[in-house]
Amino acid sequence: MLLSLALALSVQDVPANAGPVGDPVTGELPVDPYQQDNANAGARPFKGDKMAKAFGGKDGIKRITDNLVVGITSDPRIEEIFKGQDIVRLRRTLFEQFCYILNAGCNYTGRDMRSAHKNLGTQMADLNALVEILQNVMDQENIAFTLQNRFLAKLAPMKDDVVDR
Ligand code: HEM
Repeated sequence: MLLSLALALSVQDVPANAGPVGDPVTGELPVDPYQQDNANAGARPFKGDKMAKAFGGKDGIKRITDNLVVGITSDPRIEEIFKGQDIVRLRRTLFEQFCYILNAGCNYTGRDMRSAHKNLGTQMADLNALVEILQNVMDQENIAFTLQNRFLAKLAPMKDDVVDR
């Protein structure tokens, strides 16, 4: 009786079409193999620690990228683009990317911007919405306007890789 109950439960646990299995610890889904390289971040890091300090070091940058992910996945203008995507991975790689560019002591292990955004159909208006959300998040962290713009200037050249043409 107990054995058949256990068998019935374990069969239920493993549906035939379970789909990709997430990392047991983080829940991140696997992606196609790629070469990890800081160059994939799409921008050279700042020199010195002025920017990293202004952004509150790793803790501040983590708040910024976490809040950015909350913002972009709940903004009616762009939330649809993120449905069904691996948000756990996005949260991690976006943090690494910002932390690397701000020279706060991280390596970027994610994909290059062109590969990560291909086939998403992203338009210029979507990028503008993301930048606006990022500006609000940086405002919340009291980051000086000039330093916000200095960081945004690092992201600007990525436009051709993240926007569909
Ligand atoms: C300069 C602006 C942008 C930066 C710096 C950026 C950064 C990133 C990073 C680091 C990743 C993860 C790469 C990886 O998984 O290895 C990513 C993925 C993604 N980005 Fe962006 N992104 C930008 C613009 C946008 C815009 C405008 C949209 C749409 C509104 C967007 C939608 C997405 C989506 C849906 C993914 C997940 C794709 C997947 O997992 O297959 N991104 N982005």
